Amino acid sequence: MYTQTQIKELQSLTTSLLKTADHRPLATEVIEKLRRVLRFHENRYYIQNDPLISDFEYDSLYKQLEKLESDNPALITKDSPTQRVGSSLNTSFVTVQHLVPMLSLENSYNAEDLLDWDRKAKELSKLDEVEYCVEPKFDGASISLIYENDQLVRAATRGDGVEGEEITNNIRQIRSVPLSAKFSAYGIQQIEIRGEVLMNKNSFKKYNERLAEQNLPPLANARNAASGALRMKDPKEVAKRNLEAFLYHVSYTLDDNNPKSEHPKPETHSSMLDMLWDLGFRSPKKEKKVYKGIQKVIDHCLAFETERDTLPYEIDGMVVKVNELTLQDKLSQTTHHPRWAIAFKFKARQGTSILRKVEFQVGRTGSITPVAKIDPILVGGVTISSISLFNEDVVKEKDLRIGDTVLVERAGDVIPYIVKPLAELRTGKEEEIIFPKKCPVCHDELFKPEGEAVWRCININCEAQVVERIIHFVSKDAMDIKSFGDANVRKFYEMHLLKDIPGVYQLDFDSISKLEGFGKKSIDNLKAAIENSKTQPLHRLLFGLGIRYVGETTAKTLVHSVEHLLDFRNFTEEQLQALDEVGVKVAASIYRFFHIEDNIHMLEKLEKLGVQLKNEKKQLAENDNFAGQTFLFTGTMVQLKRSDAEEMVEKNGGKVASGVSSKLNYLVVGADAGSKLEKAKKIPSISIINEEDFIKMLPI
Ligand code: IVH
Repeated sequence: MYTQTQIKELQSLTTSLLKTADHRPLATEVIEKLRRVLRFHENRYYIQNDPLISDFEYDSLYKQLEKLESDNPALITKDSPTQRVGSSLNTSFVTVQHLVPMLSLENSYNAEDLLDWDRKAKELSKLDEVEYCVEPKFDGASISLIYENDQLVRAATRGDGVEGEEITNNIRQIRSVPLSAKFSAYGIQQIEIRGEVLMNKNSFKKYNERLAEQNLPPLANARNAASGALRMKDPKEVAKRNLEAFLYHVSYTLDDNNPKSEHPKPETHSSMLDMLWDLGFRSPKKEKKVYKGIQKVIDHCLAFETERDTLPYEIDGMVVKVNELTLQDKLSQTTHHPRWAIAFKFKARQGTSILRKVEFQVGRTGSITPVAKIDPILVGGVTISSISLFNEDVVKEKDLRIGDTVLVERAGDVIPYIVKPLAELRTGKEEEIIFPKKCPVCHDELFKPEGEAVWRCININCEAQVVERIIHFVSKDAMDIKSFGDANVRKFYEMHLLKDIPGVYQLDFDSISKLEGFGKKSIDNLKAAIENSKTQPLHRLLFGLGIRYVGETTAKTLVHSVEHLLDFRNFTEEQLQALDEVGVKVAASIYRFFHIEDNIHMLEKLEKLGVQLKNEKKQLAENDNFAGQTFLFTGTMVQLKRSDAEEMVEKNGGKVASGVSSKLNYLVVGADAGSKLEKAKKIPSISIINEEDFIKMLPI
């Protein structure tokens, strides 16, 4: 879409715009330049996956444009890169008619199906061999976009194929959908484009990790996450899901009757995908393949199935399309499907099984998780017999009953889940799933805190919780005691060789050596791993304690505030809240933990047993370049990980502050900095610098 010359010009424009921030005399011109440059970099980032500038530089250009537009509101246009994020909520989704009905595709499952379909296409077209374009079948939510006079004017869901819901505001949050595109260069005045919105595997994983940190059940699969997002009330929430859109079909065009259009109209599906790409859309230009004859198509489809798991997004098959657009018209369609295209479906990652019983597992924070036990089934090469149902609301919402035939799905490397019970197969003998009122392990009464969906056992001495806490303590991301593992923790606990966390450092190896499977070598390995764990960095120990809401990242930040882990005893809740990344809930949880006597005894015992509770990293200064200076980092940095940057401060003899106060010398600001920046602006003695400035301060 951009020629080499254009790229060079845009890059030098980027550099000059980054150098100056005072554009008052030339607002109109500079605004246009900034928009061009920002669109170019959005395309490099979101479409081509090959950015040419850092996020920080992008943000600084974006802020320049925002500033100029707020000084000159009359110059704001709807397709400006700043105008994606609307502030208004979607009150309702209006039903709209598609310009052309959105048909679904006929399915094929094997080579014979494709041979049959090709035979019919050849018969109808009276050709010996047909040219096909093959591309992935994206597993998301289908959308239709309409552009008029080069501007995005409407986006809609598929709905029933004839009518869908208008979701333009939400689609504007997807950065791979251009707000304007130069269709006029192809002589097109109005166009309807079809595509698929999806959440890629990485965004889906990260989003679920964030939900888990807040104790919320994860989203079941990326497809639902994408389609659910399209109908959200708040466009800002949509933006948080980091959606992507692939555009793969033009269903309608209206000519602008301009005889002098720059480019001829595409004559094949393949060149149509190229046109979309050149206009700034993410079409499957790179993924598509054109073949003459069906055999190569079949080979390609079969080969692609093996690559399915290596793709960054979910696909559920391939789509084979007749390449010549005039031939597509000739073949036309049945009432349901076009005759010029067919889906080749990959092997199902769904299967059915019987729900035999539901077990209730107690987690390390006392959460009770219902787990469905089903007759083992093979789904996409993996045998599944146990499936988490997350919480009572999920079970109720799905109306699951013991004895139900259930539809099970496993998408990519995502954990399997029950899609729904097949209610039509019920015999009447199915039984209701009854939630226990008492803990299945310690039999104490269960509680459900207000506003939460999870029942909890609040007896901290509940055996199940104790075991889970030890398992967490020794796990890879916590103290990383390699040869321990879940099974050994459970075994030692059952045999009364281990009763609590300090017990990890008091194991009776004589007794263990008498157990089956514990030869000298495995005992030596276990001893060494336990010994090594004593000097793990303090944040690992803090995370390993399993304090509610204290995830890995929070633990890393928290330890900067203390010289010794037990210093947390001296913090008030307000002081804790003033620390970076600590909200009200987190502060209350940490405060509670460090005010329970048993917990303090446990930590003292660990220290006596040789576990490092001092913040060793804080004393590692190698020189005194930053002596007497305090630094605080906020927002997302591009070149340095925050924890590395903090380490650099300490190595140079400086201190990392835990919040903004008049004692702070430098606030290092990354992208999306929030309240800390606002607060620091009010204190004149604080120098507010960016990541680059910080890097320049470091000794070479
Ligand atoms: S072409 C008129 N191409 O699969 C046919 N569809 O039932 C237009 N899909 O509803 C569809 N990837 O949502 C086409 N590369 C692709 C696709 C694709 C996914 C979806 C689409 C459609 C369904 C088929």
